[in-house]
Amino acid sequence: MKDPADFNLPEANSAAIRRTTVGGVETFEAHIAGETIQWDRGLSYGQHLQTGRLLNAQGPVSDKPDEMLFIIMHQTMELWIKLMLHELRVAMAHLRGDELDKAGRTLDRTATIMQHMIHSWEVLATLSPHDFMTFRGYLGKASGFQSQQYRELEFLLGLKRPDLILVHNGDEAAQAALNKTLGEPSLYDEVIGVLSRHGFTIPDSSLSRDWSKPYAPSVEVEEAWLTIYNDPNAHWTLYDLGEKVTALEYYFQEWRFKHMKTVARVIGHRHGTGGSAGVHYLVKALDLQFFPELWSMRTRMEAHPVAGK
Ligand code: HEM
Repeated sequence: MKDPADFNLPEANSAAIRRTTVGGVETFEAHIAGETIQWDRGLSYGQHLQTGRLLNAQGPVSDKPDEMLFIIMHQTMELWIKLMLHELRVAMAHLRGDELDKAGRTLDRTATIMQHMIHSWEVLATLSPHDFMTFRGYLGKASGFQSQQYRELEFLLGLKRPDLILVHNGDEAAQAALNKTLGEPSLYDEVIGVLSRHGFTIPDSSLSRDWSKPYAPSVEVEEAWLTIYNDPNAHWTLYDLGEKVTALEYYFQEWRFKHMKTVARVIGHRHGTGGSAGVHYLVKALDLQFFPELWSMRTRMEAHPVAGK
């Protein structure tokens, strides 16, 4: 923490700072903007949030002005993904403890973060194709395809695709983190565990399996969701859980869609810096699913009888 004398304040202002010691910590007080403002040699805003590191973590590789937008868009999304991974792990612990209300609150927060990320594409949409082309050549083969956290998020939600770890070849820490999440139950596995503990018949192959393998949809799980959704009042907490989890996939896909559309707007149908077919690859990803039975069950739901017939 800087000494007030280090702030180069005019003498009159510097004198306006009152120093005291509170609980052994040197504390300062001054009248600023009509308020009595206090700070001390304990924890400051910058120390707590590490703004020094955060705001020095933007390292453009070109001298083109629009690269800053590109960097900060990616960095803010990475921060939100970090928070989602954290919240989802909290929610999964609540699910394991059958604390469904607490899990629900955390899942709602995660869905709200996703909505925020979807809206934030509008900022990147101000990047014109010409703006991007000024610095694209400097990016080399760097691509969001190599985002460790994004892949971890897919694994955690239930989409286990081990081959995608390959691009982290040479980064042992990234590979270890991804393999760990790959080998653990996903959010959907935890939700299916809840269904089983609530008396629904779920096959052992869904409850205890090699978690690193892709999830295979099960007739029993679909039947369980169908029963719950056909009579929500009889199964309210599970119905509510099903809808909260569905919202996550719904928003995730909306994020994918906005990314794909933004990419089409900026680079058309050229290949990505990561080597894929670009928009074509991103369109294919729109068919990926985390919670298959929660979607397939909807087609089979019973229509209620029409009154008077
Ligand atoms: C102008 C901006 C952007 C362009 C042109 C772009 C382009 C692309 C392309 C073409 C791909 C396919 C992989 C490849 O061949 O590179 C891709 C993947 C990806 N991008 Fe972007 N992107 C942009 C912004 C962003 C932002 C802001 C994020 C936020 C983190 C992001 C995250 C990702 C992720 C996670 C993937 C992997 C998707 C998957 O495998 O399903 N991208 N991007």
